[in-house]
Amino acid sequence: MKVKDILEKACHENILSKDEIKLLLMAEDKDKELLFETADRVRKEYVGDEVFLRGLIEFSSYCKNDCFYCGLRKSNRHAQRYRMQEDEIVEVAKRAYQMGYRTVVLQSGEDMYYTKDMLCSIIRKIKSSVDVAITLSIGERSYDEYKAFKDAGADRFLMRFETSNEKLYRKYHPGMSFENRIECLKWIKNLGYELGTGFLIGLPGQSIDDLAQDILFVKELDADMIGIGPFIPHPQTPLKDAEEGSVDLTLKSIAILRLLIPDSNIPATTALGTLDPLGRQKGLMCGANIVMPNVNDLEYKLKYELYPGKICINEDATKCRGCIESIIISLGRKVGHGKGQSRHYKRAA
Ligand code: 5AD
Ligand code: FES
Repeated sequence: MKVKDILEKACHENILSKDEIKLLLMAEDKDKELLFETADRVRKEYVGDEVFLRGLIEFSSYCKNDCFYCGLRKSNRHAQRYRMQEDEIVEVAKRAYQMGYRTVVLQSGEDMYYTKDMLCSIIRKIKSSVDVAITLSIGERSYDEYKAFKDAGADRFLMRFETSNEKLYRKYHPGMSFENRIECLKWIKNLGYELGTGFLIGLPGQSIDDLAQDILFVKELDADMIGIGPFIPHPQTPLKDAEEGSVDLTLKSIAILRLLIPDSNIPATTALGTLDPLGRQKGLMCGANIVMPNVNDLEYKLKYELYPGKICINEDATKCRGCIESIIISLGRKVGHGKGQSRHYKRAA
């Protein structure tokens, strides 16, 4: 089958076989250009020219897990740990609102210091002070907790499954279970959150077959938001000598997922911008429609080191927003107004 025919099928049926996805992941030259152009056209048709900005608040760098790739892993004795207190988090959310953000993403390592009641209180305080959507990105919790956060006012939840190859998942996530993670994602969906998930590109040992499977798995979970980023080796982790993930495969995965879930929200991730100075621009040109700038103070930005070399780490939050806005304008796009709920979620509701 030719790439042109596969793209046509993807546009009409929103589904592809694993082999078809693999062909797209391996496309070169004209075929690759055609994939990117098609994804850009579908993005425009389904979600328009608006690029929505999400204010990312990384509120704790503590983590009880030990993921092999992540700088926040508990065994990293060099990691600088911090926890923001309740009122501080609420203040940063208000500041994000004043800067123009209408979604804040509360992200942290898996840090059980924050109890169900504390998180509910933070969510309620933010919701009662400013009109923003709240996205949580805090990892695995119990059904009861997810339900309480939703009842307190949380709107969305982000949690990548990281890899759908269970053998690799086990290898890189000691003490964790793939099954439990998927169960959490299903609970989150059933509780009525807008669901965001995704995976890492280029974990050592991951094949093209695995990536095609990852793409199909995002489709199967019927995600409203899709986060995909290249793996970047962190010097204080067991994967320090591994090769970094491919920007090209990341862009192709974004493009393919835009065709399979055309009305989803897809960010051009910070990791993509870290490996390629034009990574976020490229992402926005092949299917992405979201950017998530960090709104924390410099002090915290420096300490939240998932991987080295993160962009924007020395910029203050206002400058970052200005910078991102000019990138959006330079691409002929518009800065989104409003909360930018996933159209996929709206349609399903
Ligand atoms: N390189 C790229 N992405 C990483 N993440 C964690 N560590 C790394 C790394 N070394 C990603 C994971 C996680 C998200 C918050 O950050 O996919 O879900
Ligand atoms: Fe942060 Fe450019 S987006 S400085």
